[in-house]
Amino acid sequence: MMLKDNMSKTVSAFPVEELLAWYDATHRKLPWRAPPGEMSDPYRVWLSEIMLQQTTVKAVAPYYAKFLAQWPTVEALAAADRDDVLKAWAGLGYYARARNLHACAQHVAQHHGGRFPDTEEALLTLPGVGPYTAAAIAAIAFGRRAAVVDGNVERVLARFFAVETPLPAAKKELRALADRIAPDRRPGDFAQAMMDLGATVCAPRTPSCMLCPVMAGCAGRARGLEAVLPYKVAKQEKPTRRGAAFFASRWDGAVLLRRRPDKGLLGGMVEVPGTPWIEDGACEADDALSHAPVPAAWTRVPGEVRHTFTHFHLELAVFRANVPPDAEIHGAARPESCMWVARAELRGQALPSVMRKVVAHALDGRADQGG
Ligand code: ADE
Repeated sequence: MMLKDNMSKTVSAFPVEELLAWYDATHRKLPWRAPPGEMSDPYRVWLSEIMLQQTTVKAVAPYYAKFLAQWPTVEALAAADRDDVLKAWAGLGYYARARNLHACAQHVAQHHGGRFPDTEEALLTLPGVGPYTAAAIAAIAFGRRAAVVDGNVERVLARFFAVETPLPAAKKELRALADRIAPDRRPGDFAQAMMDLGATVCAPRTPSCMLCPVMAGCAGRARGLEAVLPYKVAKQEKPTRRGAAFFASRWDGAVLLRRRPDKGLLGGMVEVPGTPWIEDGACEADDALSHAPVPAAWTRVPGEVRHTFTHFHLELAVFRANVPPDAEIHGAARPESCMWVARAELRGQALPSVMRKVVAHALDGRADQGG
């Protein structure tokens, strides 16, 4: 069957029932999912969808279990200390999500009586909930028809409808297509079936078309474009920023850490104090040492710590020193944000992955390279 779209282009109809039957038979068993046909708890759907933004199912699963065990309801999460939420999130990345998660739980507890609103429009007013997440919660938790479009779904749509406009310009067109094919019946299962299809069958470089329940109608495959769509505008190369971190160890083994400002990258998380991170600047030791948080005989740990963020690569030189108990923290190091943390308690701190690498490198010179 062919449909006319509102841009008066003719496109093929999407075989919704075939996809749902495939989902019933093969869906991934994920901890936040209700069985096909059943509704999920909105709190669990929201928690999982926030965690799954830019993050793989495999990375999310243990964090999801930890959060649910620690905070089984939205009220429990709202009542949590924010630093405990950041600590539990440490290592998952994109820390604005953790700050918004806590703010959103408090908002739902205070303004919605602990119940998530059930429309896309109202969900969109919650902290940290954008168009994708609002649509996903409305469909999966409340059974509302919605266009749920993440990266996997974009790929499925671009291929099935042979959309040759490159991303990101194609986003609007793909969303319009998703909106048109979203069914009234089982919209949550349909959304998750599209995600599963993209994640398991309609894979980025090597789609397994022979296993695909919608292959017969796929215009991308008919044109031999199934492995190359969606086209993407070439991304700019990431710049490299450089800096230094200072691992100060006290006689009793305690380590000097510092809380980052609330706003900006890694906001509210904890770090090993260091220099600003400067693009394309070499890390000159003398220059770096003027940023040391305490006066000490600093020695440079051989090698460096590398980490990649969304918009830049980072290379950090690591200095370490043993400092006396009465060492005074320089004003420029923001002493009010600094704290001495016992060695045994380092693991439980809200240290992002890059800072865990710094600690590992300072302790035994064993930093991960890359990623
Ligand atoms: N990615 C984002 N949301 C998802 C979900 N509900 N199931 C599988 N993968 C997802």
